[in-house]
Amino acid sequence: MRSMFSHPAILFLWIQSSSGWMHPKCQIYDSSEDLEHFPTWICSHIPHHAERYTAACQDVTAIEEDLLGLPPNINTLCISMTHGENRSMSLGFFSQFQDLESLHLPSGNSHLPYGNSHLPNLQYLHLDGLGSGCCDCHFGPHTFRDLVKLSHLTIWGYRLSAMAPDVFHGIPLLQSLNIIEPCVYDLSEILCRIMNIKSLIELKIEAPEIQSINQSNCSILITNESMKPVFNNLTFSDVSFGEITHIEEGALAWLQNLTRLTGAFSQEVLLDLPLSGIKQIQDFSCSGINVIDIESICNVVFLLSIKKLYLYNANTSSLSMSSVELCTGLEYMYLHGIFCSTPYLEWHFISSLKNLNQLTIAGLEDNRLDICSFQKQPIT
Ligand SMILES: *[C@@H]1O[C@H](CO)[C@@H](O)[C@H](O)[C@H]1NC(C)=O
Ligand SMILES: *[C@@H]1O[C@H](CO)[C@@H](O)[C@H](O)[C@H]1NC(C)=O
Ligand SMILES: *[C@@H]1O[C@H](CO)[C@@H](O)[C@H](O)[C@H]1NC(C)=O
Ligand SMILES: *[C@@H]1O[C@H](CO)[C@@H](O)[C@H](O)[C@H]1NC(C)=O
Ligand SMILES: *[C@@H]1O[C@H](CO)[C@@H](O)[C@H](O)[C@H]1NC(C)=O
Ligand SMILES: *[C@@H]1O[C@H](CO)[C@@H](O)[C@H](O)[C@H]1NC(C)=O
Ligand SMILES: *[C@@H]1O[C@H](CO)[C@@H](O)[C@H](O)[C@H]1NC(C)=O
Repeated sequence: MRSMFSHPAILFLWIQSSSGWMHPKCQIYDSSEDLEHFPTWICSHIPHHAERYTAACQDVTAIEEDLLGLPPNINTLCISMTHGENRSMSLGFFSQFQDLESLHLPSGNSHLPYGNSHLPNLQYLHLDGLGSGCCDCHFGPHTFRDLVKLSHLTIWGYRLSAMAPDVFHGIPLLQSLNIIEPCVYDLSEILCRIMNIKSLIELKIEAPEIQSINQSNCSILITNESMKPVFNNLTFSDVSFGEITHIEEGALAWLQNLTRLTGAFSQEVLLDLPLSGIKQIQDFSCSGINVIDIESICNVVFLLSIKKLYLYNANTSSLSMSSVELCTGLEYMYLHGIFCSTPYLEWHFISSLKNLNQLTIAGLEDNRLDICSFQKQPIT
């Protein structure tokens, strides 16, 4: 600490006011009271515990210069940049913050996102490439190996195909991996890079460009590994695709039990979903590319033991006691309907949904709300 104060350029930054450390680009929080004013939009994905030393740096234009004078013992560091900035930093730049537990970084030009800083306490790393569209950052093999405690990793807006096939190897404690907007069309670009992360408990994939769910052939990417993914401990999986036009048989067998699946399906492709190898989906959010009949979706609900259904573009005219019969396992249903052929909903269908706790129907006009016609049979 003494050596920090001996640097004249830094000294003025260390003036503490009643509201915390003064710093031109960073707000610094060191108590739970301070955190009430925390700018959560900068680093909403990073836990910022009370009693933790947190710095949130906004409008950063040059990482190395603008972070000058930060206390070396901060635990959480969030950086957001403006456009046209200098994102480069020298290798090992973050090594000066040895107590870092959480780091939220915009994408850099450097091949290694955090320099090659050895951060022995880092648990949360959020890499945000969005500022540069799809970041073509060439992360090499074992990029995160030096982060020995890393348990939560988010990669947002980085083109995964630009990274080495074994980019995620060597993170022994990784529990949670979020891959958001990986800018790839082929699911194997994702799967083959993550299939060996044995410790994963939570997996989130949001890949709107993927339209065709094909069998992954990982021997293209990884020649020397077993082809079978090994997610033995996965308890949370949330996968979101774009408009699905094709599903190959068995293509999702590596997921088996999904917590949430989101995608846009035509009625024809929807019926292929049970052949994808998925055994169970808890929450299914389905946008219909064309109008989806209730009987078709209920068939899928039954085969995949779906508990919560969000259906957009539903043919509400096809709602009836018999058409929802296979939906009887549903606990929650959201329907965004198309009300073209019949003006009134046939509310009696509800009595077939024995396990339903909550029903939301969107798109109804007030004068069509004829739920009173149902009152003879109480809703349980
Ligand atoms: C960007 O920052 C790095 C590290 O601080 C520096 O070496 C480099 O000269 C800067 N580049 C420009 C264009 O300012
Ligand atoms: C998936 O398979 C279909 C049909 O075989 C093919 O047309 C498509 O190009 C494949 N997509 C990818 C991303 O490999
Ligand atoms: C899976 O979870 C069990 C129980 O928590 C744990 O003992 C085991 O080490 C975990 N496996 C991996 C590969 O992390
Ligand atoms: C997978 O890709 C490799 C290399 O391109 C090829 O030799 C192999 O036949 C493919 N396997 C399947 C099942 O398509
Ligand atoms: C395959 O992996 C094993 C164990 O990781 C290693 O010993 C071997 O050298 C690898 N072979 C090739 C061809 O990369
Ligand atoms: C799927 O996961 C849920 C929640 O973890 C669990 O209740 C259910 O039994 C699992 N189903 C299968 C088939 O593994
Ligand atoms: C909606 O369902 C009704 C009743 O099953 C059917 O007559 C109609 O053709 C369907 N509309 C569309 C657009 O599929």
